Amino acid sequence: MDQKTVWIGTNWKMNKGPAEAVAAARALAAFRPPEGVRTFVNPPFTSLKDVSAALQDSSMIVGAQNMFWEDSGAWTGEISAPMIAECGASMVVIGHSERRQHFGETDWTVNLKVRAALKHGLQPLICIGDTLDEFEFGVSQETLARQAKIALHGLSQEDFSRVLIAYEPVWAIGSAGRPAEAPFVSQIHTKLRAVMQEITGPDSTVRIPLLYGGSVSQANIRDYVALPDVDGVLIGRAGWEPADFMKLIDSVS
Ligand code: G3P
Repeated sequence: MDQKTVWIGTNWKMNKGPAEAVAAARALAAFRPPEGVRTFVNPPFTSLKDVSAALQDSSMIVGAQNMFWEDSGAWTGEISAPMIAECGASMVVIGHSERRQHFGETDWTVNLKVRAALKHGLQPLICIGDTLDEFEFGVSQETLARQAKIALHGLSQEDFSRVLIAYEPVWAIGSAGRPAEAPFVSQIHTKLRAVMQEITGPDSTVRIPLLYGGSVSQANIRDYVALPDVDGVLIGRAGWEPADFMKLIDSVS
């Protein structure tokens, strides 16, 4: 592996109640990733505080899976960035395709959430992704550039240095999905790297980490991580069992 920092995380989605989540966190607490690898988990809100406590002396970063952009108020059912920070988490996933698809999340709300997360010291992990139609019509790149430009609109250089982007093709996620081929991911990420430079400005030295997500498994993780413009992976199903997650992380060394 070269000198780049590699990010490897697992999004637990709507899995693991508080007891199971804490047991999983305890199983991960003593784990030390290979040099140059930064690891994170995204538990559901109901276990965010306990998982953060269980992992506070570990190398595992804890992040929420979503947030609302206002700090407080009459927003029944929502969770704010200050609440997440108070739980001990330091990261938050924003704009996951499951939220865009089923919960009306738009590019505009993603931008509001990114700004609110940064204001409260949370590291946003922004998900962008093309649908199967967009992929088949050959407009993936246009969609991704639009999503990224709007998500990062109005941010400072300091803000840029704190965000992560995950390219998660909608057609590659979940048991009905198929992993994107490494050469395709390479092509997309190289173009995304240029889009990032356009967003951060020609003189910017900020390198926004670009992760890939969508059916990552033991069979393909090394292929993705070896790509020069891929800075890590966001794993779903294959990382839910702590032993599998640790094995996946170890396999990139
Ligand atoms: O956020 C991770 C994700 O959407 C990918 O899920 O199960 O295809 O690895 P999975």
